[in-house]
Amino acid sequence: MTDISVDSILHDMKQKLSGFVPEFEIKYKAELAYEINMLKMEKNAVILGHNYMEPALFHSVPDIKGDSLELARAAAKTDKDIIVFCGVRFMAETAKILSPEKLVLVPAERAGCSLAESITAEDVRNLKKQYPGVPVVTYINTYADVKAETDICCTSGNAVKIVESLKEDTIIFLPDEYLAANVAAETGKHIIYPTKVPKSGNGKNTNLDYQMIGWHGKCEVHEKFTVEDIEAVRKQFPDVVVLSHPECSPDVVAASDFSGSTSRMIKYVKETGAPRFLLLTECSMGDNIVAENPDKELVRLCSHSCPHMKEITLEDTLKALQLNQYVVEVPEDIRIRALASVERMLAVA
Ligand code: 13P
Ligand code: SF4
Repeated sequence: MTDISVDSILHDMKQKLSGFVPEFEIKYKAELAYEINMLKMEKNAVILGHNYMEPALFHSVPDIKGDSLELARAAAKTDKDIIVFCGVRFMAETAKILSPEKLVLVPAERAGCSLAESITAEDVRNLKKQYPGVPVVTYINTYADVKAETDICCTSGNAVKIVESLKEDTIIFLPDEYLAANVAAETGKHIIYPTKVPKSGNGKNTNLDYQMIGWHGKCEVHEKFTVEDIEAVRKQFPDVVVLSHPECSPDVVAASDFSGSTSRMIKYVKETGAPRFLLLTECSMGDNIVAENPDKELVRLCSHSCPHMKEITLEDTLKALQLNQYVVEVPEDIRIRALASVERMLAVA
C-alpha cells in the first residue's frame, strides 16, 4: 500500500519542489495535502488535477493528472462517489455531464475561462440558422449549454483528428479563433468569420466560399504571447526549443518548434534531449515539469498566467471536501444534449 503519512508526503514534495518552493511553505502545504488525502479516502472521493495546477497541489493530492481530454476520460470512468475537480468550471461541468450520478465539486466558486465566456448557446443557435446543416465542432472550453447546441466537442489534443473525422467540406468551429486557425493550417482548410446575416430573405448564408466558420473567442493568457517574445528568447538562448499551446496565435505556433496540448508538451520535454525549453502556456506548468525533470531548464513568461486556474488552492480543495462545495450542477435536458457531443468526441479520439 502507498505510504500516505504526512512524513512521506513531505519527503516526496521536498524532493520535487525544494528547488523553487521555500521549505517552511512545503511543510505547511504537506500538512494540508495530508488532511486532504485522509478526507478523500474517508469520503470515497477522487481528485482530478489539471496540468496547470500550482506545483504543491499538483504534486500532492490529485489521483489523476492531465490535460482536458485525459481528465474527461478519467471522469467518465471513475467509480468514486465524489469528484473534486482541481481545474476550471467548464472542466468540472464536463465531468458532471459524463458522471451525473456523482457529486462533482470545484474548489473555487468562479474559476471561469475567457474562451468559455466568449460564446453563448444563443450565439450557436443563430450560427446554425445562418448555416443550416453545417456541423458544429465546439472546443471543450465552453459551458454545458453551448455544448448542448454542438454536434461534437474537441480538445486541443484531438481538434485536428475530430475535424478530419467529419469528412465534411464545411464546418463551424467554435469559439477559439486561434485554435481554429491552427487547425485550419494543419488540415488545409480556410476560415471565415461571420459578419452579418445576408439579406437573402430567409436569413441563410448562401455564400459557400468557406470551409471553416470561426468565432472571435480568445484565451486571455495565450493571446498575449508574441513572435517578438520568441525572437528575444532565441537571441538570449540560441539552443532553446520553443513549445506553444495551440491557443496561441498561428504566427506564434509557426515560430515554435512544437505545439500541442498541455500533456503533449509535458511528454515532449520528457522525451527530447535538449537542455532548455521556452514554454508558451500557463507558467505553473513549467514548475510542474521542472519538478519531474530537474535536468531540464524551462524558460517561462510568467507575467502571462491564468487567473482562473490560480483560484484553485490546497486550502480551498480541503474546504471543498469538508463542506461539499462548490457543487456543479447541469440541468438534465442540457446535460443529455451536451453528453451526446462529448461522447461523440470520446468515441473518435
Ligand atoms: P489542455 O486541454 O491542453 O490541457 O488545455 C486546456 C486549457 O485550458 C489550455 O489553456
Ligand atoms: Fe481558459 Fe486560457 Fe485559462 Fe485555459 S489558460 S482556462 S483557455 S483562460
